[in-house]
Amino acid sequence: MARGETQDPKPRHVAVIMDGNGRWARNRGLPRAAGHRRGAKVAHEVVESASRAGIEALTLFAFSSENWRRPTHEVRLLMDLLRRTIRKELAGLDANDVRLSFIGDRSRFSAALANEMAAAESRTADNDGLRLIIAVDYGGRWDIVRRARDLAAAVQAGDMTVDEIDESQFSAGMSLSGWPVPDLLIRTGGECRISNFLLWDLAYSELFFTDVLWPDFDETVLAGALDWFAGRERRFGLVAAPAARR
Ligand code: FPP
Repeated sequence: MARGETQDPKPRHVAVIMDGNGRWARNRGLPRAAGHRRGAKVAHEVVESASRAGIEALTLFAFSSENWRRPTHEVRLLMDLLRRTIRKELAGLDANDVRLSFIGDRSRFSAALANEMAAAESRTADNDGLRLIIAVDYGGRWDIVRRARDLAAAVQAGDMTVDEIDESQFSAGMSLSGWPVPDLLIRTGGECRISNFLLWDLAYSELFFTDVLWPDFDETVLAGALDWFAGRERRFGLVAAPAARR
């Protein structure tokens, strides 16, 4: 098994694609902004539930590389929500020993937002409770290309040889290096796809799709996903354990 892959009945690391904010709002005749605001509230609740459930790391997909293509006012709204959520939640996260990190390409964010993200990371860097990772301007292909470029540059500079590049070397520079890989991916909102999320890291993750829209997600849905995970037999490409063979 590779980095952090586990047979435990409880996932160490859960990654979540929070989908369905817009539909939740539309179903209620509300603007999409109301769905996103409610989504941020639910993210707060899920952080608490994940801590209670003893999950070590939680990665939330808050803004994808592709989300820049949304109408300007919605992009602005999501950026603003992110900034306000960091401000609002930071003290509470810190008090609860949560270590906050962001993954993704920060070069397109305003300096103010990028500074706030960096300050939040350094304030919580020594906490050893839940590791909360927010993926913003993140794309799985971006992550792989970035790592490939770093390795190519190291080879070009003579710091390593092509033969030294293997899966573990490659993995060592991915955005999630340093954390166990996600054991479980949850996607809400009814779509059954990965949408350019953690393409490298999800190779052997269990994938749980639910029709529940993100603003309706709660501790009960999370518990259902964790129960489902506990019943999975994880083989990582190997054959089944003898007792489970037919
Ligand atoms: C997908 O719903 C959701 C997003 C693109 C944004 C996710 C953001 C939040 C949940 C709020 C902020 C969270 C944090 C942690 C700061 P959608 O808009 O694609 O919904 P739809 O598919 O129904 O239109």
